[in-house]
Amino acid sequence: MPVIAVTKERRAGETRVAATPETVKKLKAGGFDVVVETGAGLGASFPDADYEAAGASVAKTLKDAVGKADILFKVRGPEADEIAALKAGAYVVALLNPYQEKATVEALAKKGATAFAMEFVPRITRAQVMDALSSQANLAGYRAVIEGAEAYGRAMPMMMTPAGTIAPAKVFVMGVGVAGLQAIATARRLGAVVTATDVRPATKEQVESLGAKFIAVEDEEFKQAETAGGYAKEMSAEYKAKQAELISGHIAKQDIVITTALIPGRPAPKLITAAQVASMKPGSIIVDLAVEQGGNTEGAKVGEIAVTKNGVKILGIPNLPGRIAADSSSLYARNLVAFAELFKTKEGAFAPDLEEEILKAACVTHGGAVVHPSLKA
Ligand code: NAI
Repeated sequence: MPVIAVTKERRAGETRVAATPETVKKLKAGGFDVVVETGAGLGASFPDADYEAAGASVAKTLKDAVGKADILFKVRGPEADEIAALKAGAYVVALLNPYQEKATVEALAKKGATAFAMEFVPRITRAQVMDALSSQANLAGYRAVIEGAEAYGRAMPMMMTPAGTIAPAKVFVMGVGVAGLQAIATARRLGAVVTATDVRPATKEQVESLGAKFIAVEDEEFKQAETAGGYAKEMSAEYKAKQAELISGHIAKQDIVITTALIPGRPAPKLITAAQVASMKPGSIIVDLAVEQGGNTEGAKVGEIAVTKNGVKILGIPNLPGRIAADSSSLYARNLVAFAELFKTKEGAFAPDLEEEILKAACVTHGGAVVHPSLKA
């Protein structure tokens, strides 16, 4: 039986894990053996004993876990020690962050590994079950609202008390992809008055269906602002200026702003200027989900809460899914179970076909080289 290794994530602050006891059972039922490095699940509250009870073996060292494995499952891209421990021709599946972590992709190629970036799984119906960007963004959007609410010194819902009425918080969500939609839904559930903006016209209806108000410059460029793959395009300087003007007046009145805007393969678009931050009331909160891709907000810093002169807090929390590690691991691990099924033939034999549509789209290294067209120099 092919062996899947699951190692302890080595990045600072990475609490997630690429398999859970539940997915170990599924992988075993699917014809894989699973080796888990000791302590791999602790950050997500899955002890070694639960993996063993589910049928995995627990390895004491990284070498023991990876050395004989055919496949390495990871959350983040593997570190040098993990790559060194891989056997010849091993498969690696992870959120490789390939545009930003080129050195890891090159090291995997050099090792001769066949590596797949979960970010590159195409967004076709058949692949939804393995869409790790969505599974993680969904929880990030939820968690962003929780973090924002926690940092906000007032209540989210309207409250009518004998001592008077408390107004509901005004929450503005910028970027309405998977994370933004979940942020809208979560803020609504907490009782906030929610508005949202995006450059993709399709989002207007989605925003309204969640009971929030849509705010955007709806000109001709806006009507064309979606790629065939459903992603945002970089907007013209002219559009950005019009958008900024519209948004400026709005931001000044908001209590919590959640920014999630991303353009694949590019730095995050700057949506909030320092002047706009300065226009907000003291005690207002900005949660910048794009902070690790450069941030949507001027002044957002990874891992920091920036407090401006006028008392606005900009939360630059990295890895929001890692703050809800048990659930984000569960969903990600299920994404990987579905992905691993692609490694088998119809008859169930382990024989990954790199011409298969999803594997081909996600494959970044093979045969000693970087093979993904978007990563080749
Ligand atoms: P993302 O994480 O790449 O970007 C987040 C959001 O930021 C997007 O909605 C994007 O339009 C927006 N944005 C970019 N530039 C902006 C700007 N200047 N101002 C305001 N907003 C800006 O997006 P995500 O969450 O990956 O979703 C992208 C699309 O893919 C969505 O339409 C989503 O519904 C779709 N999707 C389709 C799936 C499928 O299987 N068919 C699965 C998951 C998502």
